[in-house]
Amino acid sequence: MATSKPSNPKSKTQKQPASALAPITLLGLALIPLLTFSYLQPRVISNQVKSLYGSQPIIAYTQNNNHHHGTLSNSTSPIQTNEQLAAEYSHSCPSHAPKTHIFSLDPLIIYVENYLTPSEISYLLSLAVPYYRPSPVSKGYTLEAYDTEIRSSMSAVLPDDPVVACIEQRSVDFQGFMPCSRLEDIQVVKYAVGDHFRPHFDWFSGMANPRISTFFVYLACDGATEEEECQGGATQFPHFEGAFSKLWCDSGFVDCEDDSGVGGVAFKPVVGNAVFWSNLYANGTAGHPGVWHAGMPVKRGRKVGLNIFTRRETWVPEQK
Ligand SMILES: *[C@@H]1O[C@H](CO)[C@@H](O)[C@H](O)[C@H]1NC(C)=O
Ligand SMILES: *[C@@H]1O[C@H](CO)[C@@H](O)[C@H](O)[C@H]1NC(C)=O
Repeated sequence: MATSKPSNPKSKTQKQPASALAPITLLGLALIPLLTFSYLQPRVISNQVKSLYGSQPIIAYTQNNNHHHGTLSNSTSPIQTNEQLAAEYSHSCPSHAPKTHIFSLDPLIIYVENYLTPSEISYLLSLAVPYYRPSPVSKGYTLEAYDTEIRSSMSAVLPDDPVVACIEQRSVDFQGFMPCSRLEDIQVVKYAVGDHFRPHFDWFSGMANPRISTFFVYLACDGATEEEECQGGATQFPHFEGAFSKLWCDSGFVDCEDDSGVGGVAFKPVVGNAVFWSNLYANGTAGHPGVWHAGMPVKRGRKVGLNIFTRRETWVPEQK
């Protein structure tokens, strides 16, 4: 999607809205009849799917098997060096066209293909290196504790940076051109074998300025060799109860073979793609129980993700 140039990447001020979300709106409108259909139909399909794991697909579908997760496609543009990327992005945010799929309307979960480009990913991975710290866990309102029973990973809060600013701009444009000031500082999170994040909400009751939404973007899923991918590490929503098409399994976005025994839906770490969800009910209250989620343990290799949290009001870093 085309985004406007951040006039000053260091200040999270509202920028001119770009017209690029029109395709999403149009897509949404175009999807209404489809959704009506799919909400009538796939409940049946999904029940069948559940009893047919590992068996014949129900929907005849010629699949191009290009969705190998962890593989970066470089067919569109060559990887730029970090210096080239920083120079380009400080001049203006490039136009960017991710592909979106509504996964669920209630709770709202949107799946985004190619949210970040391969160049952006390698840039963020390098940028994060000096900033990794053990990931904190918020308990209550202000107390931060490091509890590896709940969470074992390393997090890097990214500094002000032209590439980060464009990704922030993309993330608020995606959400109806919100002001950038609603975003928390974005964070890279690294999970090694055995690392996990137990099921949790990104909001907690009583949060004065709640996190209204979350993006989790997959930056890396590496195995022992360059060809290998990580194993495990899905983003699992154990309380998700809705039905979904078998094509989510076939596309490689959802793990339909292994729900880790907790049910719901498990999004696989597909590099470059993002899962976006709303943490609140449509009426803006409480937190939606359907978005209780976990970073499942990484069984092999390493997974790196990017957290982008949006608050209801302007985010003040001291707020927990
Ligand atoms: C990426 O580019 C390299 C060199 O240009 C090429 O060898 C490789 O096959 C490409 N990979 C993909 C996935 O297109
Ligand atoms: C908001 O929606 C939820 C779920 O439908 C409902 O339980 C809650 O009472 C609603 N709150 C208000 C203030 O309408």
